Amino acid sequence: MSVLGKIVIGTWPLSGDFGARSLGDIEACLKKALDAGIRRFDTAPNYGLGFAESALGMVLAGGEGVEVYTKCGNRPFIGKDFSPDGLEESIGQSLKRLRRDSIEGVFLHNPRTEVTDYEPVVERLEALKAKGLVNQIGLSGAKGYDYSAVPEGRLDMFQQDANLLYLKEADGARPRFKTFFARSPLATGILSGRLSEETVFPADDHRAGWLKGDRLASLVRRVEAIQSVLPDNMDVPTAARRFLLHHPSIDSVICGVGRPGHLDGIIADATADPLPPAVTDALIALHDRDFDRPPEEAGLGY
Ligand SMILES: NC(=O)c1ccc[n+]([C@@H]2O[C@H](COP(=O)([O-])OP(=O)(O)OC[C@H]3O[C@@H](n4cnc5c(N)ncnc54)[C@H](OP(=O)(O)O)[C@@H]3O)[C@@H](O)[C@H]2O)c1
Repeated sequence: MSVLGKIVIGTWPLSGDFGARSLGDIEACLKKALDAGIRRFDTAPNYGLGFAESALGMVLAGGEGVEVYTKCGNRPFIGKDFSPDGLEESIGQSLKRLRRDSIEGVFLHNPRTEVTDYEPVVERLEALKAKGLVNQIGLSGAKGYDYSAVPEGRLDMFQQDANLLYLKEADGARPRFKTFFARSPLATGILSGRLSEETVFPADDHRAGWLKGDRLASLVRRVEAIQSVLPDNMDVPTAARRFLLHHPSIDSVICGVGRPGHLDGIIADATADPLPPAVTDALIALHDRDFDRPPEEAGLGY
């Protein structure tokens, strides 16, 4: 059973924030996705300070059946602004960069303490939806933040980290939000299985600033623990993607793509069988026992 329709291509790795990318690189990635039948793309105004949206606009303009999702509330060169007028202005600027009159969806981008009263914010998004500028409205959550102040049932989509290292909110989105988008299946590259304690990211890759030292060492041990419960012929990225793609509470999976080669595994896993139940159970047990608690309490010394 193909679950290709659940895949959304995450364009943050194409923005330059993980190292420079040319327009040619971006075009190669987006065209390869389209050729494989993937039509959904997630971006944000501040990915590469507008570069990701502009590049998507150039490459995808006029593409039939293409669904673009962007965000609002964090603007290039301005920063956080969740005022209703600021949100409307941001969406207008995104439409220009994306070269579209309307887009499939817009998410509030990582509101933390900036929004205490969601009513005027949601009302403005609903008004933009009623005008036909966006088809769906939603919230992209910052990890660990509580969004119970969001009025129930008014936002179509909730986007949150969900991967083998962090499954906390994969089941908890409904009924406050209608659909759940799991993002970062490879935990921004941590679950690629290619990292070691010696990995050093280039200075222009944002991971250089935080994926290092004790944190890197701890995460590498977690990835080794995941590999240890998989069958011999299965690697961690494959298990990570197939787990999410067949998860009953997950409607869409936003997979980051920074190079055309990244798409090979994504496409293969979208047409592969679900993981055997014993593997799924072992991954959930490992997560609940060792990842879903502070490192000092976890059994494996992460
Ligand atoms: N707050 C928010 O709204 C928010 C936050 C985070 C992400 N997002 C969205 O969610 C998307 C997905 O997150 P993510 O970019 O962190 O995605 P991801 O799928 O967790 O990680 C993608 C990264 O994994 C690495 N990778 C290694 N081997 C790979 C392989 N075989 N196939 C694919 N990737 C491989 C690549 O980086 P290297 O090869 O360079 O290691 C790639 O850039 C983002 O692009 C963005 O659209 C939104």
